[in-house]
Amino acid sequence: MSNQKLFNVAVVGATGAVGEQIIGLLEKRNFPINQLKLLSSARSAGTKVTFKGQEIVVEEAKPESFEGVEIALFSAGGDVSKALAPAAVERGAICIDNTNAFRMDPDTPLVVPEVNIDAINEHKGIIANPNCSTIQMVAALKPLQDRYGISRIIVSTYQAVSGAGARAIDEMVRQSSEVLAGREVEPQILPVGALPVKHQIAFNVIPQIDKFQDNGYTLEEMKMVRETKKIMDDESIEVTATCVRVPVVYGHSESVYVELKNEYELEDVRKLMENAPGITLVDDPANQQYPLATEAAGKPDVFVGRLRRDLGHTRGLNMWIVSDNLMKGAAWNAVQIAEFIAIEQ
Ligand SMILES: NC(=O)c1ccc[n+]([C@@H]2O[C@H](COP(=O)([O-])OP(=O)(O)OC[C@H]3O[C@@H](n4cnc5c(N)ncnc54)[C@H](OP(=O)(O)O)[C@@H]3O)[C@@H](O)[C@H]2O)c1
Repeated sequence: MSNQKLFNVAVVGATGAVGEQIIGLLEKRNFPINQLKLLSSARSAGTKVTFKGQEIVVEEAKPESFEGVEIALFSAGGDVSKALAPAAVERGAICIDNTNAFRMDPDTPLVVPEVNIDAINEHKGIIANPNCSTIQMVAALKPLQDRYGISRIIVSTYQAVSGAGARAIDEMVRQSSEVLAGREVEPQILPVGALPVKHQIAFNVIPQIDKFQDNGYTLEEMKMVRETKKIMDDESIEVTATCVRVPVVYGHSESVYVELKNEYELEDVRKLMENAPGITLVDDPANQQYPLATEAAGKPDVFVGRLRRDLGHTRGLNMWIVSDNLMKGAAWNAVQIAEFIAIEQ
């Protein structure tokens, strides 16, 4: 990306699990930066972060922080985005928002570059990054939608604790050593920081991610339903989701059953996956090769395997989809969007 305009960039939530990955990717990808502003709450203001060998002091995020900022990447929670993204837009910034704040706003494009890159052009200042579990699923399903059409998706997720932020990682590590030492575990964060009841995550599986809605589904499950339809631009796709937290640090795994509108050959699906952008096919049962969270961690791709036809429904396909939730599920998808904006300007 040489001979390009350089941008004033802000990362909001710079000290968080996602923010840290965004900063790492901006450096690794040599993003065309003139000035980088790192923003957090008052708690972490003053922290120093090294970027390209130089120390940057993290500042408290305020509306004035966005004076002169051209691209702002937000990952500091929905309330912060709601409060500060409009202030950043007023000052001329394009915001890429990792939170749930604007995803279903009809004026805000919800973008996975491999699926609907053209939607970026409709932005009015804010572009939303979808939910991590949705991103990896739609990236893998897009080639099937284009080739066969999709009528139905049934997904069960096995989501890493890093999806709930840096404190949830600390909690799982702490609880694991407490259990191994035979000590009492006192859960403090999961399943939902803002709710009173907490559950042990070490050596456990929790079928709740985010708050329950009136319909009995959790917010995470409803995000998968609504966001999939919006990104794939097809309200008729039937989606049902069960989202589960598992004691894995990085990488969400998903069991996805997809019903296609037209008959398919498994070999053709394999070829589609092999050639799809951002997808790596790992599907060799004879040699016990399939996607694993431990292998996906730290990598940008979405890994697909365990491809097999449903036993009762000839247009039904089962797949196993794994990706690092902090990379493609958050930071990498956001930086891909930022790179697209940088190239367009
Ligand atoms: N983790 C994932 O896999 C993932 C994936 C997609 C989207 N997201 C979304 O990204 C957001 C951040 O997630 P995370 O996992 O990175 O969380 P995290 O590790 O808890 O980090 C939160 C970040 O937000 C900052 N922050 C908190 N309150 C703030 C305030 N009032 N003003 C400014 N900054 C504030 C924190 O700064 P301090 O250090 O000062 O507290 C920290 O930098 C969430 O909305 C989440 O839903 C996360």
